[in-house]
Amino acid sequence: MSFHGLKMLYEGKAKKIFEKSKDEVVIYFKDDVTAFNGEKKDSISGKGKINKKISVFFFKILEEKGVPTQFIKDLDETSFVARKLDIIPLEVIVRNYTAGSFCKRYGVKKGIKLKEPIVEFSLKDDELGDPMICKNVILSLELVDGDILEKIEHYARKINEILTRLLSQSNIILVDFKLEFGVKDGNIYLADEISPDTCRFWDKNTMESLDKDVYREETGDLVERYSEFLRRIGL
Ligand code: TMP
Repeated sequence: MSFHGLKMLYEGKAKKIFEKSKDEVVIYFKDDVTAFNGEKKDSISGKGKINKKISVFFFKILEEKGVPTQFIKDLDETSFVARKLDIIPLEVIVRNYTAGSFCKRYGVKKGIKLKEPIVEFSLKDDELGDPMICKNVILSLELVDGDILEKIEHYARKINEILTRLLSQSNIILVDFKLEFGVKDGNIYLADEISPDTCRFWDKNTMESLDKDVYREETGDLVERYSEFLRRIGL
C-alpha cells in the first residue's frame, strides 16, 4: 500500500509508517484496534483520527516543555509528519496507580496509588509477547548504551510529571502509559504515539476508564470514551 505515492516502511497493529524523505516519515493512524498481543482484533471507525489528534496534542506540549519528540508537523485527519528514527526496541512503561499486568504480576488490587511512580521496560517483540526486561539485562545484552537508558528514564519521568499535572486540570488521573523512543544522529526523541490506546486515563471522581480498557474488558464504547477524553482536554 502507498500513501500519496509514498513507500510503506512498516505496518504495526495500529499504525503504518511511510517514507517521506531521507529524514522524514508519515505516521498514519489506522482504525484497527487489538488487545492481548493481537488475539482480540477489530476495526473501529473513527479511532485513528481521534488517536492522531490526541498524540499531536501531547507531542506539541511535551516539545514546548523541553522533551524532544519525533513530531514535525500535522498532515491530515489521520496522519502527521515525523522525524525518521531508529526505534529502540523497548517499551517504556510508567505507572502511577496499580492496574493491568502489574496487578496480575504482583497480586495487588487495582487502583492503589503507588508511593512513587514506577518505570518498567519491556522488550518490543510480539513473538515473545513483549516480556518485561530489567535494566541489567538491557545493558548486558547491549540493547542500548547506559547513557541512553538513563536519558530514556529521565524523559519518561519528566513526561509523567508534565502529563499528570496537565490531565489533573481536566479531572483525569494518568494511571499508567507506554512510551517508545528512537535515535537519530546520536540524539534521543520520544516516538510513536501517546493516546488512549497506550495510556490508562481514569475519571478522578468515578474512576471510570477513558481508554482502551473499555475495549480490552468490553465495558464500554471505545469511540464514545475516547471522544469524551477529547472533550475533557478541550479538543
Ligand atoms: P499493562 O498493565 O498491560 O502492562 O499496560 C501498561 C500500560 O501500557 C497501559 O497504559 C497500556 C500500555 N500498553 C501499550 O501501550 N501497549 C501494549 O502492548 C501493552 C501491553 C500495554
